[in-house]
Amino acid sequence: MEGGEYVKSLLIRGGKPLFGEIPVSGSKNAVLPMLAAATAFREPCRIRGVPELTDVDAALEILVYLGAEVHRDGADLLIDPRPICRWRLPEALMGKMRGSVFFAGPLLARFGRCALTPPGGCPLGDRPVNFHAQGFLALGAERDKNDPEVFSGRLTGNEIFLPYPSVGATENLILGALGADGTTVIHNAAREPEIECLCAFLRSGGAKIAGDGTNRIVITGAMPGSGDFAVIPDRMEAATFACAAASAGGKVRLEGAEHRHFGPVLDALERAGCQIRRQESHIIMESAGLHSPGEISTKPYPGFPTDAQAAFMAAMLRAEGETVIRETVFDHRMHHVPGLRAMGGDIELEGNAAHIRGVKKLAGAEVRASDLRGGAALAAAALAAEGETRIDGLHHILRGYEHFAEKLHALGADVRTV
Ligand code: EPU
Repeated sequence: MEGGEYVKSLLIRGGKPLFGEIPVSGSKNAVLPMLAAATAFREPCRIRGVPELTDVDAALEILVYLGAEVHRDGADLLIDPRPICRWRLPEALMGKMRGSVFFAGPLLARFGRCALTPPGGCPLGDRPVNFHAQGFLALGAERDKNDPEVFSGRLTGNEIFLPYPSVGATENLILGALGADGTTVIHNAAREPEIECLCAFLRSGGAKIAGDGTNRIVITGAMPGSGDFAVIPDRMEAATFACAAASAGGKVRLEGAEHRHFGPVLDALERAGCQIRRQESHIIMESAGLHSPGEISTKPYPGFPTDAQAAFMAAMLRAEGETVIRETVFDHRMHHVPGLRAMGGDIELEGNAAHIRGVKKLAGAEVRASDLRGGAALAAAALAAEGETRIDGLHHILRGYEHFAEKLHALGADVRTV
């Protein structure tokens, strides 16, 4: 039903509640740094439960370009990093996604040299890499005078203070610190579950890392040997489908969802009137009519995740009363608002705060996805809208949601790709 490059749009005929069960895939934001981390291993490694996503394809393209041998074995990836011989990526590969920036740290660790080329990714405002660069400098790398993207030198463990708990900078600096002599301490580190997953993968190969999951991570320099680890379930996919079910109504079971990883989203959905059963191996979520949960602000983990902001907004379009959603992590992450308004959503923007007044009905419209999460949010709203919605720019969604249309279809949605 989907996956080919010819697939451009999603057609959804809404107004039907969702019922059924879907599996939650491996996490995009966990697997991308793991794939980059494979370049820091001395021996072949296995990553289990890798989702089929175009961002994963882009990471594999980078690994092959660098010289690694990559094989798929069902849902597992086997990566042999021993033949890697390149340390710099061409701009075309860097520009394909944000996750390409994670290769800088492990390549610096491996070769004592890397290029911090601005990566691609969703247009969410200014997304600088200055914290990554400051961290590399703190580890003792020097910036090339003629080519300021290039860092090189012998690395030595150090204390690094991040000005903000950036997920990507924390991951890149953990990976860079593997190649440093002595111990590195990252203060004000990000605490996201994806960082714990990356560290567990590195530890499976013998890396000495402690404190992941807290804001102080300690890394003793040494490259890992041979790694083997399973990707954690995608908490943002689970959050998106929970919001889609809240939007459309119905009862869905999200198999494999780890509820502890997106507690604030589930709590907010509960405050809005959804019933949620949190089990060890799955969650069951039921919704029939919503009211405003009050005000929500996005925050770094363990706060309300910015990646769930758009889908949550879609779910609140028909919630009685006024909901306020503040985006505090990124400067421009409201690209979904015009599409949601086109379906009849009553949203007023005041800077980075969206005031949503619940409406009784939404209606199908022609809209365009301009980023990954915003695109999925349009689909969540379309499921509740009467008539047909056409969402162009489907490739944004396929970057981060495995079998998106098939999963909606499995829940009884009337959905087609064209
Ligand atoms: N920031 C800086 N300087 C830096 C790094 C970050 O100013 O050197 C700022 C950013 O501009 C932003 C804030 O810090 O305002 C947070 O950015 P962060 O570095 O934490 O985000 P990221 O690593 O670029 C990852 C995810 C995003 C997710 C954010 C926040 C991946 C590949 N991407 O991005 O995921 O929104 O963390 O949780 O892991 C998505 O999946 O749709 C997505 C955008």
